Amino acid sequence: MSLLYRPRRLRKGETLRRMVRETALTPDDLILPLFVTYGKGVKKPITSMPGHYQLSVDNIRKEAKEIKALGIPAVILFGIPEHKDETGSSAFDPKGPVQQAIKDIKDKVPGLLVITDVCMCEYTSHGHCGIIKDDDVDNDSTLELLSREALSHAEAGADMVAPSDMMDGRVGAIRDTLDENGFTDIPVMSYAAKYASAFYGPFREAAESTPQFGDRRTYQMDPGNTDEALKEVALDIEEGADIVMVKPALPYLDIITRIKTEFRLPVAAYNVSGEFSMIKAAAEKGWLDGDRAMMESLMSIKRAGADMILTYFAKEAARLLQK
Ligand code: PBG
Repeated sequence: MSLLYRPRRLRKGETLRRMVRETALTPDDLILPLFVTYGKGVKKPITSMPGHYQLSVDNIRKEAKEIKALGIPAVILFGIPEHKDETGSSAFDPKGPVQQAIKDIKDKVPGLLVITDVCMCEYTSHGHCGIIKDDDVDNDSTLELLSREALSHAEAGADMVAPSDMMDGRVGAIRDTLDENGFTDIPVMSYAAKYASAFYGPFREAAESTPQFGDRRTYQMDPGNTDEALKEVALDIEEGADIVMVKPALPYLDIITRIKTEFRLPVAAYNVSGEFSMIKAAAEKGWLDGDRAMMESLMSIKRAGADMILTYFAKEAARLLQK
């Protein structure tokens, strides 16, 4: 039979498939989240996230060297403080685990970019992302705490700050504070479209940040909304965000595509803890090929329009990409 077009012609053999592949994943696309805790010599496994640990600063250094050697350009740091209180005051302790880890990595592992997550939930006794008033997170009084936290990260030497709290106006507040203190060159990566998601489950074990009452639905976005994501992004850009993030990634690929198409600026996607743990658990049971599911997920996030992917798979993926 004579067929003018036979798409299968270009699928014959891996070499040809490589040549016509539209999306390529590289270690440059990846950002690895790390959990920094207090103390020394700590390497506490996170049971729901195989291969991930709460690490003390000395162990973070080792880890950072390995990450750099794999060609991964950046890490994002989350802190587990020794003390939590109502207002999360240890978030801006200059001797806090995150602040120390920033200094240490910048000093000992030059060239690895250090991003910090800016949020109160790891530091508050109630596990919410800001100050509580009348059983809810109070927006405007939280902005000051977030700004102080971001400033303390910049003072410790962070290369970029990433607010994940979803308070209104926080990008502008943080931008102002950084600028007033001479940090005009520190970019803000905002968690712009962050949904109230079940996929954060394993992270809350990792960061010990489960809300002690209620949930985060009064500040994180409703999963049914798309236009609202564009609004959130537009506001964050107006306030000075340099990079905007969509989170989670896989259940929200349409949001990534829409934001990339409408705004044409760097878009990050957070392939969150639950997305990681699902694949790990299924692979452990022998229900799917973990490596292939990982690479396909990361590829699809990039194909959707993400310029960078925050992922707990970063090391494993970088290793496969080096082969
Ligand atoms: C803090 C924060 C969370 C995540 C990143 N920053 C948890 C949350 O909002 O409850 C989740 C990351 C993940 O699941 O991997 N606000």
